[in-house]
Amino acid sequence: MSTDTPPTGPPPPPFGPGQHLLGVGQLDRGSLGGLLDLAESLRPVGRGEQVCRVLTGANLGSLFFEPSTRTRLSFESAFHRLGGSVVSTTGFTFSSMAKGESIHDTARVVSGYSDALVVRHPDTGSVARFAEASVVPVINAGDGSGEHPSQSLLDVFTMRAELAARGKSIDGATIAVLGDLRYGRTVHSLLAILGLFDEVDFRVFGPPALALPVEFFDLVRASGNSIVECDSVQEAIAPADVIYCTRVQKERLSEEDEQEVHLEGDLLNRAILDEAAGPESVIMHPLPRDSRHDSFDLSPDVDEWPGLAIFRQTDNGLLIRMAIFSVALGVADRVLEDLRPAPWLTTR
Ligand code: NCD
Repeated sequence: MSTDTPPTGPPPPPFGPGQHLLGVGQLDRGSLGGLLDLAESLRPVGRGEQVCRVLTGANLGSLFFEPSTRTRLSFESAFHRLGGSVVSTTGFTFSSMAKGESIHDTARVVSGYSDALVVRHPDTGSVARFAEASVVPVINAGDGSGEHPSQSLLDVFTMRAELAARGKSIDGATIAVLGDLRYGRTVHSLLAILGLFDEVDFRVFGPPALALPVEFFDLVRASGNSIVECDSVQEAIAPADVIYCTRVQKERLSEEDEQEVHLEGDLLNRAILDEAAGPESVIMHPLPRDSRHDSFDLSPDVDEWPGLAIFRQTDNGLLIRMAIFSVALGVADRVLEDLRPAPWLTTR
């Protein structure tokens, strides 16, 4: 797709004012807690009850070279909600990458028009290459099967709230992770960021051809948490406080994978939940859910399950992304003093 070489050099510095957000390794427990609390304080803005204009005059460059609904629209809404403006391009067809322009040149050019960039690209490591050439902070909105840091931040934010509502916390939780564990970048970022918590017990299940790569077992164990590979969904979910489901990343399967992956039925449905899950289990999914026949995904027949948190997750994405921009652009400490009532009627 391009002649760009993989990024070299030291890992990115801790996430803070003026910094890129490329992976969850840039956060520690303290900075993560601060970001989640900031996101919580922006909840009335997400609901349209208050306005906050800390980014008035700032411009976001939004570059999405892979399909997206919630990630792109919530990043762009977040920037608008804080008073900024957005310029965007989607797909390869309508940018000069279709004329052979490199990641380097594209990043340098668009960063000259913007105060921050948000980038999604199909190649693992590619967003770090955008960051090398950008003159403004770059936020990784997903690089191939690599990382999706803003998703795992909103996942942790959601988990924290859902577990707190049940008198529990992420420390000590049992978390089932199901589906495409090989190519799912949300899984990879989630396992990494939960390494900041203690005594988390992971139970993972996916089709054999989409099993979790061995380095993630090592990563989890190196953080002091435990992880077991289960032979069935039932075995994975039985003791789980949180059940995190994922879509099969069909667009990333090689021809060889296609031969090996045989998908039938649902990954998780109401009958399986009723058979095996505890009644308090929280169900999460980064979405989209693949609603096509035999997609091996989360069935819509779970939608009445009391712990279904998937749309609270998507709402929370807006709050987390407002918090990310506030930190990256150095206005986090102005958010609270800038909040004021919205003059319009809100019906939420
Ligand atoms: C995920 C992604 O793009 O990695 N979607 C999202 O951003 N919420 C998951 C997926 O596409 O399956």
